[in-house]
Amino acid sequence: MPSVKSLVESKSLCTVPSEYVCHKTRDDSIFSEAQTIPTIDFAHLVSPIPDQRSQAIQQLARACRDWGFFVLINHGVSETLWDKLMSASHHFFDLTEEEKTEYAGRQLFDPIRYGTSFNLNVDKTLFWRDYLKIHVHPQFHAPTKPPGFGEILEEFCKKSRQVCGELLKGISKSLGLEETYIHERLQIESGSQLLVINFYPPCPKPESAIGLPPHTDHGLLTLLLQNQLDGLQIQHKGKWVPVHPLPNCFIINLGDHMEILTNGKYKSVVHRAEVNNKAARISIGTANGPPLDTVVGPAPELLSDAHSPAYRALAYGEYLRFQQSLQLDGKSCLNHIRL
Ligand code: SIN
Ligand code: FE2
Repeated sequence: MPSVKSLVESKSLCTVPSEYVCHKTRDDSIFSEAQTIPTIDFAHLVSPIPDQRSQAIQQLARACRDWGFFVLINHGVSETLWDKLMSASHHFFDLTEEEKTEYAGRQLFDPIRYGTSFNLNVDKTLFWRDYLKIHVHPQFHAPTKPPGFGEILEEFCKKSRQVCGELLKGISKSLGLEETYIHERLQIESGSQLLVINFYPPCPKPESAIGLPPHTDHGLLTLLLQNQLDGLQIQHKGKWVPVHPLPNCFIINLGDHMEILTNGKYKSVVHRAEVNNKAARISIGTANGPPLDTVVGPAPELLSDAHSPAYRALAYGEYLRFQQSLQLDGKSCLNHIRL
């Protein structure tokens, strides 16, 4: 299957090829521009001033409970690193198809996988997206091209793991648990981190195609950054809320395993990526979860007579495999393990 980028470059497309045409329903176009996702100040979350920290934790609790998505500011990852990562990612997709095909992995757990759409074995409609997926923890992998890409990725992944670690401590506290609860229960130090770089080429008829259809993320927390183009939209109270890019801010969202662990107290929220006809949009996400063989079920501390377990426990790797075998059709993979 050719990449979308090569398709766009090989012909002067003025329409969307039929295999990419995505039939949208009326519900797909119910928007709310009036609402914006909450903002969390990372500097407050790690502040040595107890009042500042506890206020930030309360805000985090509300953001997780009411939205499942938030903007993270003052996270300490430098703008220089951010820019280097964005431009090196762009350079990767600018390599020739032959060069990139070297990384065309087929299997979910291949360390590096360059591809298009989501899962070509099950997708009925193709998506207007090419991707590079890399397993970066517990073992770090990186493509050797373009030069310097690996070093930039390694530095970025390390920093984003630190940010994620602090967020998980804040989230544990926000649930009334010890701050190391999630770290210890889910062995976060040796947990898995998957980096996904999404490349959405400009599309001649953006309303006819989709970059990524509605889905939820599988991990505990996803940290996302994007170039300055709109595209990400999240489901909130039955409407699509666009998440406009802000310079040097992470967009954080809770994944299915946070919903499982918290027994549904915190939700993994459906989101999608639309495409545009102006320029290539790039988004870079890290999905952070426990080790692949760790079995995750609802935390016993959050259960009671009134709150019985709502999800079946499953190894994280099994869950990933299961999600990959399904079509992305707007329904969360969680529906299959709900009790
Ligand atoms: C994703 O959901 O994995 C990516 C969303 C985006 O491109 O903004
Ligand atoms: Fe996602």
